[in-house]
Amino acid sequence: METLTPEVESGSNPPAVDFEKVQDFAGRVLGDLAAAGAHALVYVGDQLGLFKALAEAPATAEQLAQKLDLDARYVREWASGLAAIGYFDYDPANGTFTLPAERAAVLADESSPAFMAAASSVIRTMYHSADEVAGIFKTGEGFGWHQHHQCLFRGTERFFRPGYHTFLVDDWLQQLPGVSEKLSEGGRVLDIGCGHGASTIILAQAFPNSSFVGVDYHQESIDAARKAAEEAGVSDRAEFLVGSAHTLPAGPFDLICYFDCLHDMGDPVGAAKAARGVLKADGSVLLVEPLAEDRLENNLNPLSAMFYAGSTFLCTPCSKSQEIGLALGAQAGPGRLTGVLESAGFSNVRVATRSMANLILEAKL
Ligand SMILES: C[S@@+](CC[C@H](N)C(=O)[O-])C[C@H]1O[C@@H](n2cnc3c(N)ncnc32)[C@H](O)[C@@H]1O
Repeated sequence: METLTPEVESGSNPPAVDFEKVQDFAGRVLGDLAAAGAHALVYVGDQLGLFKALAEAPATAEQLAQKLDLDARYVREWASGLAAIGYFDYDPANGTFTLPAERAAVLADESSPAFMAAASSVIRTMYHSADEVAGIFKTGEGFGWHQHHQCLFRGTERFFRPGYHTFLVDDWLQQLPGVSEKLSEGGRVLDIGCGHGASTIILAQAFPNSSFVGVDYHQESIDAARKAAEEAGVSDRAEFLVGSAHTLPAGPFDLICYFDCLHDMGDPVGAAKAARGVLKADGSVLLVEPLAEDRLENNLNPLSAMFYAGSTFLCTPCSKSQEIGLALGAQAGPGRLTGVLESAGFSNVRVATRSMANLILEAKL
């Protein structure tokens, strides 16, 4: 029988493996696997309204299933998984699951700034496109935003909206001197890469005397934005156009915004130059980007890990699918973003503020 000869005998030293460290790391990866599985459960719970139902009152799986007209066996397995990972409390005495208010703010309440259940739709998209993305690792080709599964578009809107709702009007705009005052009196705003229009609609609700144009190259997103504006009662002052960030509607605009999208563009410098061409002489560009520092070694944390993953599947391929394909990535950081805006001819660029997940820059002529 063939035996494995220890390397020691052949004269070289075996690699020193600390099995305690292996065990520790395996335990950590097991936790991550459990979390990945839990996020598939979160996706289902979010789609079916299970979190909202459980947030109303503790319930057994059977009661929850009855409330939503679902199969009780599936609901029990689903709830058991989320209890096992610690998202739900479980009372064995009466078989009830509880979603305490603090966790409901994260999983059930879409108006809460902490709401994150919609992120599961984005993760789902990443798995859906994973084979295509693995393929473009070999070719270096791009993969456009519009090529992903459709759950990305609404998922992104629902994931980002709570942050915009919390910070945009009351915090970020307050860091741009004179802008809120101008919009209260009546100004013109352009929201480039607006997606489903969450940011445009929040602004239109806050400043009824101003007018708003949202532009995005993705037809389906623009259709959804128009519908959302009607439902929000702001379609008299918010219009949405299908178009590229390079061919903008006629200005001049008092405020031009990019919400979490400049890094997705192939030619962000060209796009910012186009914005400069339709900005009023005293107007402002508001650039909102995922929070990041300039150097990878300062981005080694869970928030950045999430953004780097999204950037690998979504943002970097989207940029590479367009002309120039600069591929800034979702963790570009203030230095590179400032460089992009300065290269486009803006002479006054500054980091206006930072919030939980975003970096906010202002650029003026
Ligand atoms: C991450 S999403 C952000 C959407 C929206 N601003 C939000 O915060 O919910 C990026 C958006 O940029 C749009 N986009 C990408 N490249 C574009 C381009 N060159 N011109 C116009 N829109 C573009 C995509 O269609 C997508 O809607």
